[in-house]
Parts: sequence; structure tokens; C-alpha cells
Amino acid sequence: MNPEERRAMIADASKTELHIHVEGSLEPELALDLARRNELALPYRNVREARAAYAFTDLQDFLDIYYAGMGVLYTPRDFYEVAIAYLRRAHADHVLHVEMFFDPQAHTPRTTFDSVMRGLTVAADEARGWGMTVSLILCFLRHLSEKEAFETLENAERYRDELLGVGLDSTEVGNPPEKFRNVFAAARDMGLRLTAHAGEEGPPEYVWQALDVLGVDRIDHGNRAIEDPALVARLARDRVPLTVCPLSNLKLGVVDDLRDHPLRRMLDAGLMATVNSDDPAYFGGYINDNFVRVADALDLSLDELEQLFRNSFLASLGIPMP
Ligand code: ADE
Ligand code: ZN
Repeated sequence: MNPEERRAMIADASKTELHIHVEGSLEPELALDLARRNELALPYRNVREARAAYAFTDLQDFLDIYYAGMGVLYTPRDFYEVAIAYLRRAHADHVLHVEMFFDPQAHTPRTTFDSVMRGLTVAADEARGWGMTVSLILCFLRHLSEKEAFETLENAERYRDELLGVGLDSTEVGNPPEKFRNVFAAARDMGLRLTAHAGEEGPPEYVWQALDVLGVDRIDHGNRAIEDPALVARLARDRVPLTVCPLSNLKLGVVDDLRDHPLRRMLDAGLMATVNSDDPAYFGGYINDNFVRVADALDLSLDELEQLFRNSFLASLGIPMP
């Protein structure tokens, strides 16, 4: 396949997106509008300054700007607007199903859990009218304590039926999965599905902990799993999905060059890898851009691309009945 054929094939393919932080889809144009509407300050005055600030050296450098940017989200309408803008974009990319992460603990110091949930659920309902399904995954911030994660899970009890599962994100190194052992067990007892960011910057040991201590159904990123042959064998044996995010990895220095991205090695090892956008407003591309860039860099074949699109459905934690 030449690059043009590949681009057309990627654009047309039906797919799911399983690793998208709704707050990471907040484009600077909308952030600036919301800052004006809510009379709040942002660390940049215009879109040009915002884009100039999006030159990250690592995950923490990104997270500092990401948390500052989402400080403009206040009312249910604000959360609705960021979510619906992402869902429209995903719909145009032929995404049929979305598992959408959100970070309530990054919002509850300034607004209510209910504002977040009301905005996101209205957007999800609207997208159902276009034939998409949308599931919500509440992420605990791993730089905060397990006690704070428990308080968030308590807040979520009222919204149990609106949630597919819980995840774990934010600063990875120094915050191993085992720190959240008890709250993940409690989430499982509520019937929630479990996933965790692991092996993005953290070592393979964190991926083992996510599997064996938290009992996750899926690993978000998982790049560094490839360093440990026994872990690769385990992930392959149990068909554990990996939600891989190539442009995120490039922008955050997880890989220096997309030609060195582990995606092909993951597929060759029989891992259930999927391609996703993570925080598209910050990393320069939505899901189809991620497919095109990584497929070009690794010269992925038609068979490999078809496998990735199939994996995107197989790796879903639960597509709700329409
Ligand atoms: N929150 C949003 N994007 C993230 C990422 N790539 N890693 C960890 N936490 C995140
Ligand atoms: Zn992520």
C-alpha cells in the first residue's frame, strides 16, 4: 500500500477509541472562550502562545500545562462543550465507540462532581443519536493519596450506572499501582471495569503490579512492557489489551522517533495493541492522525492495520447496548 492508499483506508475504517482524556481534547480556541466566559486567567493569551507552550520534555511537563488548561472548566455546559467537540471530531474519523477518561479530582477543588457528570452524560447521550456509543471511565490521579481516591469513588456511587470503569493516570514514576490496591478492589466490588496507565514512563514492574495487584482488564500505554520478555509472554497469553498512543509518546519523549515506536514489536509478539490519541489537543493529532503517522513511520501493512482496527473492538471494556 502506498501512503495515499493507506491514508484513505485509515480514514474509512470503522474503529473505536479507548484512550482519550476528555480534558486533553480541550483545544486552545475553546479554552480561551471558556476563560473569557468564566472570567478566568490562562497561562497563555492566544492560540499562538498556547501552541508555543505545548513543547513538552516529559510527562510532568505536559501535566502541569494540562491541569492549568482544564482550570477553565466550571459549569455542566463547559464540560458538555469540550466533550461534544471531541465526539464530533471522533465521529468524523469513523469512531463508532469511545471509552472516555475523565479526571474528577482535577475539577472538584473548583467545581462539583455533579457538574462534571451532567456535562459529560448529556454529550454522551447526544452522540448516541448519531449512532455512536460512549462509555465513561473515571480516573484516579495517582499523585494524590488512596484516601482521596476513595472519596472520589464515594462521590461516584450515585453515578454508578453512568460509569463503565475506573482508571489510574497522572504522574507515574514514584506512584506505583500498588498504592491504589484497596480502592481498585472496592471499585471491582461495585462491578466497575478496571484499567490503569502503566509502563508509559514507569518500569515493567508497574505493569506487573497493575495486572497482579490491581487486577486490571487492560493496560493504558504499556510501552515499557516490551523490555521484559516474561511480561510480554503474560500479556500475550492473557490477551491483555494495550491502549497505545503514538503521538503522545513522541511529544512526551517516551520515544525519540516514531520509527522506533514499539507498536510493530507488540503486534509481532501477539499483543492486543490498539492505537489511540490520549490528549489530542496537546499532541498534534486525533485518532486518524495517530494511525497515519505511526503507519507511515513503521510502514504498517494492510494486514497489520486491519488487525489494529479489529483489536480496537476486541479490546473494548464494554460497548453499551444502543
Ligand atoms: N493524563 C492525561 N494524559 C496522560 C498521560 N499520557 N499519562 C498520564 N496521565 C495522563
Ligand atoms: Zn492517557
